[in-house]
Amino acid sequence: MKRPETKTGRFFVPFWTHQKDNALTDLSSQITSVHERFAESLSVARDVKDLDSIRVAYLGRSGELTAMRRRIGLLPVEERRTVGSLINEAATRMEEALHDAGRRVEAGSLLEALGERIDVTFPGLHPAVGATHPVRQTMADLCSFFERRGFAIVLGPEIEPEYYNFDALNIPRDHPAREGFDSFFITDTLLLRPHTSPMQIRTMERFQPPIAVVVPGRCYRRDAVDSRHLFMFHQIEGLLVDDNIHMGHLKGILTAMCADAFGREQALRFRPSFFPFTEPSAEVDTTCPACQGNGGECRTCGGSGWIELGGAGMVHPNVLREVGYDPAVVSGWAFGFGIERIALARYGVDDIRLFYENDPAFLEQFS
Ligand code: PHE
Repeated sequence: MKRPETKTGRFFVPFWTHQKDNALTDLSSQITSVHERFAESLSVARDVKDLDSIRVAYLGRSGELTAMRRRIGLLPVEERRTVGSLINEAATRMEEALHDAGRRVEAGSLLEALGERIDVTFPGLHPAVGATHPVRQTMADLCSFFERRGFAIVLGPEIEPEYYNFDALNIPRDHPAREGFDSFFITDTLLLRPHTSPMQIRTMERFQPPIAVVVPGRCYRRDAVDSRHLFMFHQIEGLLVDDNIHMGHLKGILTAMCADAFGREQALRFRPSFFPFTEPSAEVDTTCPACQGNGGECRTCGGSGWIELGGAGMVHPNVLREVGYDPAVVSGWAFGFGIERIALARYGVDDIRLFYENDPAFLEQFS
């Protein structure tokens, strides 16, 4: 290759290379370094003015890239095209970066202009709001019904000695009725209460008639789990003791309670039954609210047309005597209803297990 001769007789060497073979490599690393410096100043640019001066410094008429472009003419003819397109490529990428930075800076100054002000027209964020669990809701509604009628709400321990669970309730040791309460024993004499009835005793022990209480709470039984049974469930116990209390009072208030819980008049059915702590005793059913007593294929009541709520009856004289009351002077009624049973019927749920699976899709329906 013929090189232009200088006056001194030495070869003119292009400014970016000393060795012809490395000319392109050196050039591209030079472009890279220009680009890097450019990108760095761009990243700290804060406003449009900064961007403008960067544009001038690199891409302006006497900018770095423009200066490189001017020197293309000094290159050997066959290299000019390659070098030119390298520079053009860099210029394009720098223009794009400038454009992006422009938008960034604009958005930033918008935020700055808005400052701390709150845009009250901006759509809000909706946090996921939970809802009262259907069993809790049913319990609260039942309690509120009785509270409005002057009953006190009392809570009792979930672990009870046999005395409160059985003996004081007229279920002596070896009485077959104990088998009906297949209990979880914690020690030889302590057990997880299988019903809320122990609170009848605890209340009467402490207070004198008139007594009007309801006791909501958890109970435990060694029941096989199916669509109607769980080993843990809730009951609400009711107890009214005063002069001249009779079965009519019981029927009256339970009828009103069902109307309140189900939102409409409900028939009530007392089936003769046996509990050692009440006499007479009954199991209480109400019209199935899902089929309104028609039965048939109804899954809520299993086709019987009735929903069994629980047991009830007149407090047994032995129980009154046990707490020091005189059965000749006072009488009372008691009931113990399953809250899940009422919730099932109330919400038309056909499997009790659904209440405790903690499936948000199921629970959300009650919010
Ligand atoms: N405690 C009984 C049960 O759990 C229900 C009941 C309560 C019956 C009060 C009569 C009076 O089965």
